Amino acid sequence: MYVKLVSIFIVAIFGVCLGEFVETPDKLYFASKEALNWTEAKKACEEAGLELVSLLNENDKAVLESFLKEYKLAPQDAWTGYWLAGIRHPDGKFYWDTTGTKVGEGLSDWLVGEPSNAYFKEHCIELKQGFNQMGWNDYFCVEARKYLCQVPRAEGPRGEGLRDYSFLAEENRLNERPSYRVPMPFDNGIIYLDASEIFNVKPF
Ligand SMILES: *[C@@H]1O[C@H](CO)[C@@H](O)[C@H](O)[C@H]1NC(C)=O
Repeated sequence: MYVKLVSIFIVAIFGVCLGEFVETPDKLYFASKEALNWTEAKKACEEAGLELVSLLNENDKAVLESFLKEYKLAPQDAWTGYWLAGIRHPDGKFYWDTTGTKVGEGLSDWLVGEPSNAYFKEHCIELKQGFNQMGWNDYFCVEARKYLCQVPRAEGPRGEGLRDYSFLAEENRLNERPSYRVPMPFDNGIIYLDASEIFNVKPF
């Protein structure tokens, strides 16, 4: 009985102290402690009165990275990235979901070889550790990742947002057939893409 009460007490104390996010001293950026798929991460930020992080310029990048380094929250390997606000729309271009602006206009921070859109199903941007630096990678939105929220941006054009995010929830079907053929000698090195697979959704 005593042990049980003590453990309830400990859980209660830590539950309150830890909170759901690690935050910057100026309470601008927030790093989640849980991992969610992209749409759930978006929802979790919004429920906290925040929005997923958008990186519009070098300053945004510098402030966020110094926060992650200071609190030892920087992604350590390929599997500990964070969801950002960027997604690939059915027009094939990446937009920051929160501002409606195109990704890459004021800052382009893709890791080498990215965005690769593997299996034509990597529509969400994660902040990931590359060989030497942090940068962006497109990844499967259905996968669970920790996520970064920020105080909602007051300035800048705001996108209307997508009305339908369901295409993000496509399974990645890694074990099924790939969407491309490996180039064969008789293909003259050309990779044949099946365009119908790029977006298996209706246009808006
Ligand atoms: C995330 O999970 C929710 C709840 O299971 C689901 O409704 C949604 O479609 C998922 N989104 C993605 C991008 O997988």
